[in-house]
Amino acid sequence: LPPVIAIDGPSASGKGSVAERVASHFGFHYLDSGALYRLLAYAAHHQNIAWSDAAKVASIAADMHISFAHGEVLLDGLQVSAQIRSEQMGKGASEVAVHPEVRTALLQTQRNFRQAPGLVGDGRDIGSVIFPDACLKIFLTAAVETRAQRRYDQLLQRGERADYAAILADLQQRDLRDSQRVAAPLKQLPDAILLDTTDKNIEQAVAIVVEAFKK
Ligand code: CDP
Repeated sequence: LPPVIAIDGPSASGKGSVAERVASHFGFHYLDSGALYRLLAYAAHHQNIAWSDAAKVASIAADMHISFAHGEVLLDGLQVSAQIRSEQMGKGASEVAVHPEVRTALLQTQRNFRQAPGLVGDGRDIGSVIFPDACLKIFLTAAVETRAQRRYDQLLQRGERADYAAILADLQQRDLRDSQRVAAPLKQLPDAILLDTTDKNIEQAVAIVVEAFKK
């Protein structure tokens, strides 16, 4: 089986950016599992299905036609990258993701991304449930204030309005919810390497993961 590098960590830890760059360094495929949950929240929203309706949300998960091309996410052939990146769909993602039925419905979808020459996957459960045999597991984190600052900068860069205090409060709340939830709580796996990027930029974080994989 092709090798898998699994990266997890709290919200806004930079796992997506690091995972994507590590994947392109090795010429591996990249699985953004958060995008799958965001897509599902988006699809449910458009079909007037409540995010709390576990059975209905799980049933549409099986029918979603998803593809990732050139950094864009397509749902049933339509580009939805910008739509699923909204704070609303981030919230929706975390709501649909608490249902065990929904997580099960997305299990095979995620495993199908494991193709030669290898895969870098990011998100909850990637190193525990989806690819427990991943050869390298990274727990990517940073101080909550640092993560809030990064998200703030990112929103400004995109020309969106941003409120640092509100972002910080939201991240603190999300950390709490993510670590206390029953389905796939956020926690560092015993076999994962801790990578704290509070004082590191993306390039430094990527270099550490690349070195760890070569060993
Ligand atoms: O970085 P952030 O967690 O805000 O965004 P994301 O990676 O796009 O994921 C959005 C939400 O989906 C997360 O906050 C999780 O609650 C949920 N999620 C999950 O439960 N399992 C995954 N494998 C990926 C995301």
